[in-house]
Amino acid sequence: MTAPRSATPPSLAQSLHFWARNASNESALLRTSLSVGLFDALPVEGEGAPITVQQLAEKVGASVRGVRSLVELLVCLGLVRMDDARGLALTRPVATFLADPRFRERLQEASGWWGPMGRLEEAVETGRRLSHGGCWDVLGLYWRIFLEKVPSPSPEAEDFFDRFARGAARTWLLVTAGRLGLLEQLSTGPKDEAALLAATGASERGLRTMLDVLAHLGITRTEGTTSTFTEEARQVLDGKALPYLLRSFSVSAQYWEALERLEETVRHERFILDLKDPEVSQRFYADNSNQITAVFASHFQLSRRAAATLAQVKPLAGAQVLDIGTGSGVWGVAFARTEPTAHVTYFDQEVVLEQARRNVEQLKALGQARFWPGNLFTQDFGEAAYDFIILPQVLNVLRPETLPDMFRRVARALKPDGILVIAEYVLNERRDGPLDHLYFGFRRFLTNEGDLLSHSEYAALLADAGLTATVCLPLPTQELVLAARPGVNLPTQLAPPPRAAA
Ligand SMILES: C[S@@+](CC[C@H](N)C(=O)[O-])C[C@H]1O[C@@H](n2cnc3c(N)ncnc32)[C@H](O)[C@@H]1O
Repeated sequence: MTAPRSATPPSLAQSLHFWARNASNESALLRTSLSVGLFDALPVEGEGAPITVQQLAEKVGASVRGVRSLVELLVCLGLVRMDDARGLALTRPVATFLADPRFRERLQEASGWWGPMGRLEEAVETGRRLSHGGCWDVLGLYWRIFLEKVPSPSPEAEDFFDRFARGAARTWLLVTAGRLGLLEQLSTGPKDEAALLAATGASERGLRTMLDVLAHLGITRTEGTTSTFTEEARQVLDGKALPYLLRSFSVSAQYWEALERLEETVRHERFILDLKDPEVSQRFYADNSNQITAVFASHFQLSRRAAATLAQVKPLAGAQVLDIGTGSGVWGVAFARTEPTAHVTYFDQEVVLEQARRNVEQLKALGQARFWPGNLFTQDFGEAAYDFIILPQVLNVLRPETLPDMFRRVARALKPDGILVIAEYVLNERRDGPLDHLYFGFRRFLTNEGDLLSHSEYAALLADAGLTATVCLPLPTQELVLAARPGVNLPTQLAPPPRAAA
């Protein structure tokens, strides 16, 4: 099995990053693959003829898009094998441990805990069992799955169980520790049990369970009645790192119910957190604007590098730039900061533009700015009006069937020698990696948003809109796809990273 976990154990920083962003996605992926029947419907490698995603979806009675979102991740994790003709089969070690009835029973039991686990905060506060369509000892569950040794049939099975059951439990423990203020308390130094009980409102049993599991995760240690961060946690969660991490956990918490009910989404494309609903989208993105602003500095490095890259082939002086789905404004403002005579139009939903305005003002680029509220699904962006149009992390918001129309409107709005700048998570040509990109795409499916594409898939859609020249340049954490009409000069390599922050 190629599951990327065995080599060297991850550092606490890497683990926290994973628990904050993807551990609950991974648990939901495995739990739903099991409940939908994917594992049972796949032939075992070497035994039966591999089947396509379409055949698999038909066999289990689920949507092709839903099954594909699961399968691409299962292939990337090494649990399912995909051949060059995109035929799918279950790997032998997975087939073996899933055929073990006792192991299967453990998975089924763990599956039922998602909803009650989401009420951990209440369990910590009361110290008691919860009634949630039955009686659930959530604190007891944490004890059992983290602190009791239950043998698994093989190391592969143990790894699978960990991803299946403990991943989401870790995420929710940290969401809860953040919400109750426990992590903030510990970040200021060693604390006595009485002080922690008073500050967090936890019951004794609740606090003890949290501290025991946090200690097991290498985050805290307790001597007598005094608890503190471990040395590694203290270093990792220093300064702004803890508030940043807590924000990531609270973003992940927004997906909890949708992940719990993922089977409904995969079977019937019923979206529990439907970001195509304007009200839900406004609330969600307004909530997330803090988080988007928190990553401003790192994204600004990327956007400045993109602006410098484009300046190598086309002057930015006097350029008209349109930034569609601007969010924090981080992409458009990089063009404004690179060239003081460039004019930038920031397009987004009205509530989000307030945040963009503040950021643009802070960077002293208001004089070059126009703010344009609207709906990117339907907006006519005009004709031959822009030298550069930026689509930064926004195509993944659009359902795949709407991309041709989007590219048509954008191509029309570009001047004849204009350049379209797409900043996206671009998949490899097999669509089975990189892993972080696939998890990001999985959340987009979950929320009825878009899909991630490979470079050649983008190139085909862009060519249909007349933008036949494309290049794909890898930035450090995402990719840049540049597109233009034939004959327009496109950069073939990235400019070096800009030195000092502007
Ligand atoms: C993933 S964020 C990207 C933000 C920013 N471009 C960045 O890279 O940080 C997607 C953006 O698309 C915007 N968006 C989503 N649906 C929209 C709609 N129907 N009309 C206008 N903007 C929309 C959201 O408000 C959000 O700011």
